[in-house]
Amino acid sequence: MKTAKELVREMTLEEKCSMLSGLDFWHTQPIPRLGIEAVMVSDGPHGLRKQAEKTDHLGLNESIPAVCFPAACAMAASFDRALLRRVGEAMGDQCQHEQVGVNLGPAINIKRSPLCGRNFEYMSEDPYLAGELAVSLIQGVQSKNVGVSVKHFAANNQEHRRMSSDSVVDERTLREIYLPAFEAAAKRGHAWTFMCSYNKLNGEYASQHKWLLTDLLRKEWGFDGYVMSDWGAVSDRVKGVEAGLDLEMPSSNGERDRAVMKAVQEGRLDEKYVDQAVERILDVNLRYLNNAKPETPWDKEADHALAGRAAAECMVLLKNEDNILPLKKEEKVAVIGEFAAKPRYQGGGSSHINSFKVTSLLNALAGEQNITYAQGCAIKSEETDAALLAAAVEAAKAADKAVVVAGLPDSFESEGYDRTHMRMPENQVALIEAVAKANPNTVVLLYNGSPVEMPWIDCVKGVIEGYLGGQNVGFASRAVLYGEVNPCGRLPETLPEHLEDTPCYLTYGGEGNRAEYTEGVFVGYRWYTSKLQPVLFPFGYGLSYTQFAYANLRLSANSIKDTDTVTVQVDVTNIGAVPGKEVVQLYVAPPKTDLIRPVRELKGFEKVELQPGETKTVSFTLDERSFAYWNTALHGWHVVSGDYDIQICRNAEEVELGASLQVTGTKAPPRHYDADTIVMDLDERAMGILQETMQGAMGVMGGGEEAGEDAAINAEMSMAMMRYMPLRTFVSFGSMTLQNLEQLLDQMNKE
Ligand code: BGC
Repeated sequence: MKTAKELVREMTLEEKCSMLSGLDFWHTQPIPRLGIEAVMVSDGPHGLRKQAEKTDHLGLNESIPAVCFPAACAMAASFDRALLRRVGEAMGDQCQHEQVGVNLGPAINIKRSPLCGRNFEYMSEDPYLAGELAVSLIQGVQSKNVGVSVKHFAANNQEHRRMSSDSVVDERTLREIYLPAFEAAAKRGHAWTFMCSYNKLNGEYASQHKWLLTDLLRKEWGFDGYVMSDWGAVSDRVKGVEAGLDLEMPSSNGERDRAVMKAVQEGRLDEKYVDQAVERILDVNLRYLNNAKPETPWDKEADHALAGRAAAECMVLLKNEDNILPLKKEEKVAVIGEFAAKPRYQGGGSSHINSFKVTSLLNALAGEQNITYAQGCAIKSEETDAALLAAAVEAAKAADKAVVVAGLPDSFESEGYDRTHMRMPENQVALIEAVAKANPNTVVLLYNGSPVEMPWIDCVKGVIEGYLGGQNVGFASRAVLYGEVNPCGRLPETLPEHLEDTPCYLTYGGEGNRAEYTEGVFVGYRWYTSKLQPVLFPFGYGLSYTQFAYANLRLSANSIKDTDTVTVQVDVTNIGAVPGKEVVQLYVAPPKTDLIRPVRELKGFEKVELQPGETKTVSFTLDERSFAYWNTALHGWHVVSGDYDIQICRNAEEVELGASLQVTGTKAPPRHYDADTIVMDLDERAMGILQETMQGAMGVMGGGEEAGEDAAINAEMSMAMMRYMPLRTFVSFGSMTLQNLEQLLDQMNKE
C-alpha cells in the first residue's frame, strides 16, 4: 500500500490542486487514476447527520435516520469522562457502519455569553472542563479508526455576523480561556482533523491565519492531521494554503483550486505548500480507509438506550425543597406542558439529527397509573391560551404533585443567529406560575440549550435542568423524576440571574464586525466569583437525592517547585440513604499579587459513585499548568512563587475544604530595568543593589528626626510613596548623579 507521500509524488499539479477542496458537500476529491478514493465527512457533534441525497450545511435537508445523543450542553453536565468516551465509541461505530471517515465534532468553543445561539452545541464556559471532556469524546470516536474534526478553531463565540466578525482577543485571554480546550484536543486527544472557524481572529480570517493554523496548532501543539475549513469559511485560498488550511469545504466547483494552481504556476505560491496539504489530507484518509469496517453493525435500539442512559447522567437537579423529588409511584402526578409529549431534545442547524425514534416523557410513562397530562400552552406560540391554561390548572389541582415540562422552543436558539434575551416564552412563564399557584407541590423540568431567567423560581419546589437530552430524553426524565436514577449532573456553566449580570453584557456581539473581548479572562464563574456577583446557580452546582460529606484533604507535599507535581487526596462519603454520584471539584486559588487573576479556577474533577455509607478516596494530580498564568513577556506559562490555596468545592462558590501549598516558580520572566522602572517593580536582588548604592539615602528620604510613633508613620508613608518613584527621580531629588544611575542600571541588569 502506498503512503500519502508516495501518492503525492505521483500526482500532477492539477490533480494535487483538485484535492484542495471537496468533491461535493461531504466528500474529499478522489483521483481514480491513482486509486485514491473519496472519503465522506458528516456532522457531528452529537450523532451522525449523513446526507445521502440533497445536501446543505444547515441541517435543512433530510439525513439518514440516526440516533441523537444528548447535545454537548447536556453531555458536559455529566462531568463524566467515561460517559463521553462511551458515546464517542458509539458514534465511531456508526461512522464505520455508514462509511463516514470523519465525524464533524466535537464543538468546543467557550460559552462567552448565554446569548450565543450555538451554546447548546458547545460544552462549557470553562476551558479545563471543555478540554477534558473533548479529549474523552475524541478518544472514543477515534478508537474506531474514524476521525473527529475539532471545531470551530478559534474564538468563535457568537453567531451574530458569524462569517465576518473579528474576535479581538488579547494574548493572555486567548491562551487561558479560548485555546486550552483546543490544545488538549490536539495534544492529548490527537484529533485527526481540526475545522477552522468562520470569524477573524485579531484581524485575520481563521481560514488563512498562519499563526493559528501552523505556528500554534502544528509547531507548538504537534497536530499532525489536516485542517478543513468550516463550510464557506474560505476568503483568500492562496493565502490559506500557505497558512496551513489544507482542505476547503465544501467544493467551490474547483474555482479556488484553479486559483491556487495559477498562483503556483506564476511563482506566487511555493508548490511545497500544495504538496504538504494534499499529503496531510491523504494521510488522514488512509488512516480511515486502511481500517474501514463497513461490516460494523449499528444497533440503533442499543444506541437509543445508551442515549437515554447518558441523558439521565446529565440532568442537573437545581432545587428540591421539602424533598419534593423523587416522585413516588403512588402519588397522583399531573404532567403539564407540550414538551412532555414532544420534547425539545436537540438544536437547529448543522447538528440536527434525523432521529429514528424519539421517546418523550409521556411515552416513557405509558402504562403508569396516577398520571394525567395537560398541554398547558402551545410551544410554537408565545400567547397564553386561556382554555389550555385552565385545563392545566384543573389537572394540577386534582393531583398530588405537578410536573411542568418547559424550556426554549426551537426558534429561540439555533445555529446561525444569537438570542437577544434570556427569557422563556411568556406563555410558559404564565403556565408555571398558574400551576404553582394551583398546586404548591410543583416541579419544573427544563429542556433548553442555554441559561434562562427563572422569575418563577421561588414559586416552585423542584427544578431540574434537563438541557437538550437527545432522542431518549423521555426515559431519562422519568428515571430522574422517579429516582430510578439519582441525579448527578452539575452545571457546566453559570446560570446568571439577569443578562445584565453577565461578563460581556456591554460588548457581546461587537460593534459592526469588531467584537472586542474586553472582559479578558473573566469569563463565566471567573467573573461572578471574583466580582461577588450573585447568580441564580453557580458553575458546578447540582443536587442529589443523597448527601455527600468531605474529609481528610491531604497533599503529598506542602511545598513544591513548578517543575514537580503534587497529589491531592480527599475522602468523600455518601451520608444519605440511597446510592448516588458526586462530582468532586478541585479549584486552585492563586496568591495575592498584583497580577489580575480570577479568585479560583477549576483544575480537577472526578465523578465517583458511592453506596449509602460508603467512603472513597479521590485523587488529583496538579502540575505546572494548575498554577500558571500566561505571561506575555515570556510568551509562555509562568508560575508566580507563593502560597496557593487548594480548594475542594461543591461548586465554584462553595468551598468545602482547603489546604495551602507553597509553589516556587522556576521560570523568571525576562527582566530589564531602566531609568523609568519604579521602585516597587525591583526584585529582591535589584532592591539590594539600590539600597547599597544609596548608602543611607533611603533612610534620609524615608525618615526625619522625629522619634517614636510619628517617625514610624512617616517612614511608612515615605516608603509607600517611594514605591511608585521611577529610579530617575533619585537624580531629580539630588540623591544620585546621572553616572550613578547608569552604573546602577548596569549592575541591576547584569545576569
Ligand atoms: C457549521 C459546522 C458544520 C458545517 C457542515 C457549518 O455551517 O458551522 O459546524 O460542521 O456547517 O455542516
